[in-house]
Amino acid sequence: MEVTRYQSHAVSVIEINHPPVNALSSLVCQALFKEFVEASKDPSVEAIVLCGANGKFCAGADIREFKSTSLMKTISIEDINGNIESCKKPVVAAIEGVALGGGLELALSCHYRVAHIKAIVGLPEVLIGILPAAGGTQRLPRLIGIPAALDMIVRGRHVPATEAFQLGIVDQVVQTNAIDAAVHLAREIIGKPLDNRRLSTLPVQYNINIEDFFDNALKKAKIQFFGAQAPLACIEAVKASVELPFYQGLKKEQELIASLVTTGQPQAQQYAFFSERNAGKWTLPSGEGWDNVSPKIIKTTAVIGLGTMGRGIVTSLSKANISVIALEQDEKQLNQGKKAVISLLEKEAEKLNKQGKSSSFANGLGPVHFTLDFGEIRNVDLVIEAVYENMGLKKKIFQKISKILKPDAFLCTNTSGLDIDEIASVTNRPQNVIGMHFFSPANIMRLLEVVRGCYTSPITIATTMSLGKTLGKVAVLVGNCPLFVGNRMLLPYVEQAGYLLEDGCNPEDVDNALEHFGFAMGPFCMMDLAGLDVGWRSRMEKGLTGDRVPTGTPARQRQGNRYCPIADMLCELGRFGQKAGMGWYKYEKLGGRKASPDPWIRDFLEKYRNTHQIKSHVINSEEIIQRCLYVLINAGFKILEDGIATSPEDIDVIYNNGYGWPKYRGGPMYYAATTGLAKVYETLDRNYKANPDIPSMKPTFLLRKLVAVGEPPLKEWKTQLGNLNNKL
Ligand code: 3HC
Ligand code: NAI
Repeated sequence: MEVTRYQSHAVSVIEINHPPVNALSSLVCQALFKEFVEASKDPSVEAIVLCGANGKFCAGADIREFKSTSLMKTISIEDINGNIESCKKPVVAAIEGVALGGGLELALSCHYRVAHIKAIVGLPEVLIGILPAAGGTQRLPRLIGIPAALDMIVRGRHVPATEAFQLGIVDQVVQTNAIDAAVHLAREIIGKPLDNRRLSTLPVQYNINIEDFFDNALKKAKIQFFGAQAPLACIEAVKASVELPFYQGLKKEQELIASLVTTGQPQAQQYAFFSERNAGKWTLPSGEGWDNVSPKIIKTTAVIGLGTMGRGIVTSLSKANISVIALEQDEKQLNQGKKAVISLLEKEAEKLNKQGKSSSFANGLGPVHFTLDFGEIRNVDLVIEAVYENMGLKKKIFQKISKILKPDAFLCTNTSGLDIDEIASVTNRPQNVIGMHFFSPANIMRLLEVVRGCYTSPITIATTMSLGKTLGKVAVLVGNCPLFVGNRMLLPYVEQAGYLLEDGCNPEDVDNALEHFGFAMGPFCMMDLAGLDVGWRSRMEKGLTGDRVPTGTPARQRQGNRYCPIADMLCELGRFGQKAGMGWYKYEKLGGRKASPDPWIRDFLEKYRNTHQIKSHVINSEEIIQRCLYVLINAGFKILEDGIATSPEDIDVIYNNGYGWPKYRGGPMYYAATTGLAKVYETLDRNYKANPDIPSMKPTFLLRKLVAVGEPPLKEWKTQLGNLNNKL
């Protein structure tokens, strides 16, 4: 039974019961409509309470039912809403857990709303590429005013109950059972007038210059959500609440949602939504997986190394109320790390404060303890190592801590690409060793690559994946290979950006093209931010630059393949990026963030091309995008072939959450599927034939095979892998 109804004296309680989140599927809508009509006609019923089973009101329309061309169901939600709102008997929504999207729209059509203190409400449709289309953009502004409604709708913000009360979205917040409170309220209001409780009949009130307000909002959204269409449609819909009568506003919602569907963005964002949820459902070839291996509960942790990453990881653990011992190698580094963690936690507390939430760390460090003494970590459940990227050092630390720690403690490394098995091999418990690859800044970035080595046990995977979720991360299980998944794909992309400079581009040409595509940041801006010295050191270690390059090696060649030495040349000149005030761009000061194109670089590139007798040519944005992205996608296919990622969806989750890929394009593998695999294959093949010294352009076996079998849908790519390697 999707919807049940029972009566408590004169109050009929209608409960949605559709696990896991009481989404409004077609069946739920039909049942809800029927039960509501029956209750409203029943003479023994004098008031109605609407609620959801299992402590959740409703998470909105059932996204699983969305099809590219049909969003019909949204209309039926508004049918229900219209019925509720016009009902002569008072209707009260009892909000527990979540009232999101269509769920909140349902609640807004009720005459009163009671929320549990831990409930959240919101209209997050924008995050899945659409807009609230069951009256949300028309009712919410009538209830809380234009600025507050626009902010919630355009950002898709989850609003906690206490804030919802302050904003006027809910009438009561209760600490106890919200359904009992709603029934109580319903009884009290029987027979009282409801006219000013029907939101559709109220005027939208404002005392601002509304034209300017919407113009500014549109301008800001075009910058902040560059390329995404849904935020703009949200603004237009809210504007319609001011300009049009309510029912025409509803029509506008429908027109806007229909036009969004034609852009392909909702489909990409909904694919991203489900891919993210599926990433947590890891399974090993042995059959062990998320649904049959129980994680260990992690209560105490230690983080070794409080540099860029360590301090963010400590903050993240502390925010989740997990006790942390933070370790450094000397007093100076410890104090610096401590200062940084305190400042990060203060910022987090401030954020929570603004949301009306308190934090355990608001008046200090919460569960963090700082020390130089390794002996103090003896009893922790899990350690995350975040020292310099150096195999020798990491092995020394793992050897040391494996002797100190209790036998069942887990040992995790935040390495960005070193061999997990080699690190595990020096410990007395290789089955408990795993990579937890956080992204910078670790307290903000949502991605966590969980890297499984060949010895890693299923329980270690289950525990770290679960810890990732507790920290609010999107954890993706990947296999062990140099650079894992995200960074391995980034390598040919960055390489290609270098070749584009040789062939005639300036850094800003490449960055502009990729930022226009939707990346948060182009590759040269990204390198300036991270520091050019990071890649330089790694290339030196690999013998690609520096003293270990054999004499007589041509400047633009390594092991017979093309090589671009420009980044190395900049590093030799101390142009390390933002921290040096200059890199691919120049900055206003050391550590400055405002990049401007540097005439010096243009001049340098001209001289470089002349020295190497490179004939430059005009390269348009399309070529830049194809050259950079197709090699990245090709590397993604190779990763699937090698069994380093379980699915193309996992790769997309990694790119959407860790690399600034525009979510409205779904992720690189989804983008390849929508672009057409044949086009990607043919472009790569043509380019590779013209540049046989760039191996990353050679189309992979899997890509070729998928084209040969007629480009099956992305969900079926895995089956084409047959018995290929699986490192997971
Ligand atoms: N429709 C269908 N399934 C949904 C759903 C929805 N609206 N919301 C969540 N689910 C599913 C998830 O896919 C997942 O399924 P699985 O167990 O099979 O993987 C399950 O519910 C649990 O979801 P989460 O893993 O995300 O659980 P959390 O507890 O971490 O989060 C949540 C719960 C906050 C509700 C989160 O799932 C969420 O944000 N959901 C989306 C809410 C949303 O966008 N609503 C708007 C829908 S569109 C709409 O209403 C249009 C309207 O304007 C007409
Ligand atoms: P960092 O150089 O900023 O910090 C390293 C810290 O480790 C320093 O504070 C240092 O004092 C400390 N340390 C060194 N030896 C130690 C020892 N014996 N005992 C205790 N502390 C010791 O380095 P960063 O950038 O934080 O990187 C750490 C790890 O995270 C590396 O493996 C890196 O590859 C990885 N990583 C880095 C990312 C980044 O963007 N910086 C992103 C993802 C992973």
